[in-house]
Amino acid sequence: MRFYRAKDYNDMSRKAANIISAQIIMKPQCVLGLATGSTPIGAYRQLVEWYNKGDLDFSEVTTVNLDEYKGLARDNRQSYYYFMNENLFSKVNIDTDRTFLPDGMEADSEIACRKYNEIIHSVGGVDLQLLGLGHNGHIGFNEPGIAFETETHCVTLSERTRKANMRFFISEDHVPRQAYTMGIKTIMSAHKILVVVSGEDKADIVRQAFFGPVTPQIPASILQLHNDVTIVADEAALSKCTEKI
Ligand code: F6R
Repeated sequence: MRFYRAKDYNDMSRKAANIISAQIIMKPQCVLGLATGSTPIGAYRQLVEWYNKGDLDFSEVTTVNLDEYKGLARDNRQSYYYFMNENLFSKVNIDTDRTFLPDGMEADSEIACRKYNEIIHSVGGVDLQLLGLGHNGHIGFNEPGIAFETETHCVTLSERTRKANMRFFISEDHVPRQAYTMGIKTIMSAHKILVVVSGEDKADIVRQAFFGPVTPQIPASILQLHNDVTIVADEAALSKCTEKI
């Protein structure tokens, strides 16, 4: 695992955006695995800025997102499609026919997950997968205890995750109870993985996930076994890592 220490959130965002843009420049027709949540917003903002300057071209890029809430339509402001559209897709020259997320409106979980797996396979897998890190070590919506060998599946969200995501909803009652997510096996199949982490509230989980034992109780710990993982974290998120990084 490679660690890049960033001064603060903005520095983390710039460094992460640099890695993503290098991927797009080196392989214009690449497949990016994307994440939502608060952490990657700054990196998306930076990518949009470079696109506006004429330094980046998304016209041949394909994207597959990690997850989507079950039951939310694309035009629902809380859906992850809406988030991606707001933060990236509508602001760059990406072909929206090549931007994929699980279909939150497919009520049949088996169909939704099978179709999403087929999409990921049909685009040839992910070149660079961007990940945020949940406070309990979740990646995508793979909560503690999940089997490492899963592909896309339907999850029931933990109370902690629902509470953490409540900030985007009117109340906790409005946070969906289920979501479709890429599984750990899918995430681990990406050629390269980029994890972004910011803030002191993530310091404990950064230490446990990347310096502790590999265990399904901390899903992100599996990343220790991937051969091309880059972690861009700010000082605050690294504050409990005493290891030399
Ligand atoms: C988002 C996702 C989640 C988040 C994680 C961290 O698509 O899959 O795993 O990456 O919950 O969220 P933030 O960045 O809001 O702390």
